[in-house]
Amino acid sequence: MSETPRDGATILAQTATIVGPLIRSQVNGLPPEIRHAVALHFGWQADDRTVRSADVDGKVVRPALAFLACQPVGGAPEDARPAAAAVELVHNASLLHDDIIDHDALRRGRPALWAARGLPAALLAGDALFFAAIHALTESDPSVQTIPVLLGSVQALIEGEYLDTLLETGTEVSEARAVAVAAAKTGELFACACELGALAGGADPARAGHLRAFGQQLGIAFQCLDDILDIWGEEQLTGKPARSDLRARTITVPVAAALASRTSQASALRALYQRDAPMSEEDCRQAAELIEEAGARETTLRRARRCTTEALEHLARAEPETVSAAELAALVDTLVNRNRCSPTRLQGGPS
Ligand code: IPE
Ligand code: IPE
Ligand code: MG
Ligand code: MG
Repeated sequence: MSETPRDGATILAQTATIVGPLIRSQVNGLPPEIRHAVALHFGWQADDRTVRSADVDGKVVRPALAFLACQPVGGAPEDARPAAAAVELVHNASLLHDDIIDHDALRRGRPALWAARGLPAALLAGDALFFAAIHALTESDPSVQTIPVLLGSVQALIEGEYLDTLLETGTEVSEARAVAVAAAKTGELFACACELGALAGGADPARAGHLRAFGQQLGIAFQCLDDILDIWGEEQLTGKPARSDLRARTITVPVAAALASRTSQASALRALYQRDAPMSEEDCRQAAELIEEAGARETTLRRARRCTTEALEHLARAEPETVSAAELAALVDTLVNRNRCSPTRLQGGPS
């Protein structure tokens, strides 16, 4: 590794150039029709099978974490390649299924695969990528000891995605439950990326545990910000439909915080969420206003800030060497400050 720490954007750009070919090589191993469906999802091919792009799509946050977690414990970044590919494949599998569950027709600024090609294509492409992840992790070392780490996190992610659909607007809805869902559906894979990276670098269990806890807390913060971006972010920034969580009446962290706020806005929001009619654009705009007025945007930012602080405390306990510590902190900074729409910067503000 170079002596000068890289900034977050450079880390992500360099990760993309390494992980892209790893993902492609896994996808190339799929049978032709499902390979085409997956290539549509990644934006590599157009509908008519002409080549659109060779780049891996998305921010590649999870592989970046795997590579960086490998370094603090003396490993070479190459050692984390199988882990990096595996977590990005799981992530993309979860997105394919998540867009079906959430009825979101836009992903990364393009039609979601289910909208472009139908439910079977997206369901089966997701399935193919889950198994491609296991293949990525095990192909160079079939005796790899880390499969249970990946499987445990995938199971938690699946449970989190399901729990997300079961949260309801009843009076007992609590922010803590929405945060628990965020921890499962997003925190687990961040945690897994860090743990797999650390183990690939030869970390002992204590160190791998600290890095896992770092990833877990960072993932919760990331999901809180994703929930904020859904409501107040720009479609151009997220590549996802604005306010789709509100349109679908999903109980995200800010929504749960607003509902739990014991304010008049909480009652008005609950009424909107419980009404027996589709949410119009005006309803969504009103819901966003109620959430803001209930103080829940601020509460969610504070929650994200607390999780970020906790993540950095776990990172310090892993005692990374200086450059790795600086790069992980730089990546955290890039991730938590992507909410350019927010007047409140996440870091440096009051907690
Ligand atoms: C989106 O994750 C799903 C969440 C966990 C919020 P990312 O924002 O990392 O998605 P891409 O891969 O960069 O598109
Ligand atoms: C993210 O949930 C978790 C997974 C994809 C597993 P979201 O529903 O918030 O993700 P986006 O906003 O659709 O990317
Ligand atoms: Mg979604
Ligand atoms: Mg979201």
